[in-house]
Amino acid sequence: MKKELVISKIKEGTVIDHINAGRALLVLKILGIDENTKETVSLALNVPSKKIGKKDIVKVEGLFISEEKLNKIALIAPNATINLIKDYEIEKKFKVKLPEVVKGILKCPNKMCISNAREPVESIFYIGVRNNEVVAKCHYCGRKITDLAKFIV
Ligand code: CTP
Ligand code: ZN
Repeated sequence: MKKELVISKIKEGTVIDHINAGRALLVLKILGIDENTKETVSLALNVPSKKIGKKDIVKVEGLFISEEKLNKIALIAPNATINLIKDYEIEKKFKVKLPEVVKGILKCPNKMCISNAREPVESIFYIGVRNNEVVAKCHYCGRKITDLAKFIV
């Protein structure tokens, strides 16, 4: 029996596959996809996956999302695979890479941090890995955070 695709293939655009289950909505947030988005976006949550048990998938048609932006997704979905599709074919496939620095993506939990002052200061965090976990350190106050999904702006 030929198994059906959960969501249909796209002609042109970006497929973000192997997203940790439950994280697709955060991925949309990182990509800035919201109710004003004009592109066709498909979303699948909790799809069975051989590689990671369950996964989420996001497909954005007609849009080639920058590699830099896609790599920010690594913060919350370190297993994600990016597929750039052209004319139904996969033109490029790569795994996300952790960025060294992220700006304006994470909110510092330290209330006294200058990045939380009334004057808008863009947050800056340095990204690293410790004990197999993604860690971010605030440029301004040095606060270290893990479980980054909680701190996405
Ligand atoms: N895809 C798509 N539209 C296309 C081609 C592929 O939406 N025109 C999607 C597929 O549905 C899949 C992802 O892009 O979610 C990767 O496709 P493919 O490499 O064919 O699948 P797999 O071999 O399962 O990928 P991987 O090896 O990365 O698990
Ligand atoms: Zn701080």
